[in-house]
Amino acid sequence: MGENGHPHFQTNSHILVNEFDYYEPTSVDEAIALLQQHGEHAQLIAGGTHLLVLMKMERELPKVLISLNKIPGLDSITVNADGSLTIGSRVNIRTLGEHPVIRTRYSGLAQACESFGSMQIEIMGTVGGNVCNGSPAADLVPPLLVFGAEVLLKGAFGERKVPLEKFLVKPGVTAIRSDEVMLGVILPPVPDGTVSAFHKMVRVVADLAKASLGLMLVRDGDRVADLHLAYGAVAPTVIRIPEAEAALIGKNFTPERAAEAAKIASERITPIDDVRSSAWYRRRVVSVMTQDALNALWEEAGRVHAQPLVTLPDGAKSAVAGTIVPQIKRGEQREIEFTVNGVKQRVRVSANDLLLNVLREKLQLTGTKYGCGVGECGACTVQLDGKAVFSCLTLAVEAAGRDVVTVEGMAKPDGTLHPLQEAFISQGAFQCGYCTPGMLMTLKALVEENPQPSEEDIRSYLKGNRCRCTGYYSIVRAVLAATGQPVPER
Ligand SMILES: Cc1cc2nc3c(=O)[nH]c(=O)nc-3n(C[C@H](O)[C@H](O)[C@H](O)COP(=O)(O)OP(=O)(O)OC[C@H]3O[C@@H](n4cnc5c(N)ncnc54)[C@H](O)[C@@H]3O)c2cc1C
Ligand code: FES
Ligand code: FES
Repeated sequence: MGENGHPHFQTNSHILVNEFDYYEPTSVDEAIALLQQHGEHAQLIAGGTHLLVLMKMERELPKVLISLNKIPGLDSITVNADGSLTIGSRVNIRTLGEHPVIRTRYSGLAQACESFGSMQIEIMGTVGGNVCNGSPAADLVPPLLVFGAEVLLKGAFGERKVPLEKFLVKPGVTAIRSDEVMLGVILPPVPDGTVSAFHKMVRVVADLAKASLGLMLVRDGDRVADLHLAYGAVAPTVIRIPEAEAALIGKNFTPERAAEAAKIASERITPIDDVRSSAWYRRRVVSVMTQDALNALWEEAGRVHAQPLVTLPDGAKSAVAGTIVPQIKRGEQREIEFTVNGVKQRVRVSANDLLLNVLREKLQLTGTKYGCGVGECGACTVQLDGKAVFSCLTLAVEAAGRDVVTVEGMAKPDGTLHPLQEAFISQGAFQCGYCTPGMLMTLKALVEENPQPSEEDIRSYLKGNRCRCTGYYSIVRAVLAATGQPVPER
């Protein structure tokens, strides 16, 4: 028997085995002091979508985790007086991609946000985590590099700005010092006439890039006034290739010159064979991708004039919720209080307890399923403060003071099913049913945001949820039916 006299569930989902002290500083200075105190044993955590996967694989075993999630001010995007932009390190991928200034002036960056593997990762993952994990395949880095981003850091010796190009050292390694927190990135203003794009070649939608490309081009009549090209997943870090840029800068654009730039790029990269692709294929992809992207962007530059800076409405800067939660020591437990399906719950959790485990094992809410444990299947999706998140990559302590909804909370207390549940039944949108709770939770978040989603909206929102049985058609039909839209014939 487990706690509370309930049978012990053998879910095999408690796979974050290493124990650690968990801190929740409420200022950057406190986080820096903790980094100094604990040195190499400490790791910062933001969304946790990268770090918790490494911890589950036992490739990282920190003794101290320092959460950045209670530090105010790191989650805002500010347009500065000189037209530059400061993006806080804890801004999540979704918020960044939807920001009006990013969409209009830095559209290549918005495209990179949209290319992420799943909606849940876009909601949970942050700019700081993407830049600081040092992955050559990190999607935000190529566009940030072409826009000339600087990384803003604060440590025991004060603040410094490092050009992103110098920040990237080698796979998994950046120039951040062990006492430093990344505050954000600064994007210089873009000149009028600038266009940009992001391209990513993947095996399946929810995967990291085999090769990626960020481009920024300034057109002056028939001439290329400026061009920046940055490549991901084809070298130890994301790289610019100035020789390829030089094939076009200051010259009239021709398809032949674009082909020459593409050839140079494919010769300068240093790709490897790995699980995602071969070096040979990556060279071919870089050549074709560069040529196509340059031709398309040149045409776009002829059509589009740079958009004026968008004025942000009051309150557009997001604020951090101010709940203070207890810190937990390794081997100890603390009581946290949170709302689950409208009911206040108090549970004792360890620092390494995952929300998934607490829901299933301590609250007996076994509707939330364990599939992959590493953010790749969506079976564990729940709503946290209304947003769809993976409970297998959420520390339970992060739910303190917040509102969680699981599939058990979808029906009304009198048993009336949610319209999505009704439509899943009427449209036969499940077979084995294992993916269904996660699908329903993701779709509930979708229809709350967008009450009349198109088929494209539905498929895009579901990109992080796998179904091995249905082929997705019946699921799409169910959402259309539940939202009162015409349902295509079977
Ligand atoms: C299923 C799945 C799909 C994914 N798909 C994509 C994808 O399509 N494209 C992509 O680019 N990535 C992808 N990722 C990787 C990851 O989700 C992103 O890189 C994300 O942006 C990481 O942000 P995070 O806040 O979750 O990082 P965390 O895991 O919290 O942190 C990552 C690293 O950065 C450090 N760090 C975080 N914030 C700071 C800071 N402010 N200062 C200093 N150090 C900091 C942490 O110490 C840690 O070492 C995917 C991951 C998973 C599990
Ligand atoms: S179990 Fe969480 S995404 Fe698969
Ligand atoms: S219904 Fe079986 S995995 Fe989706």
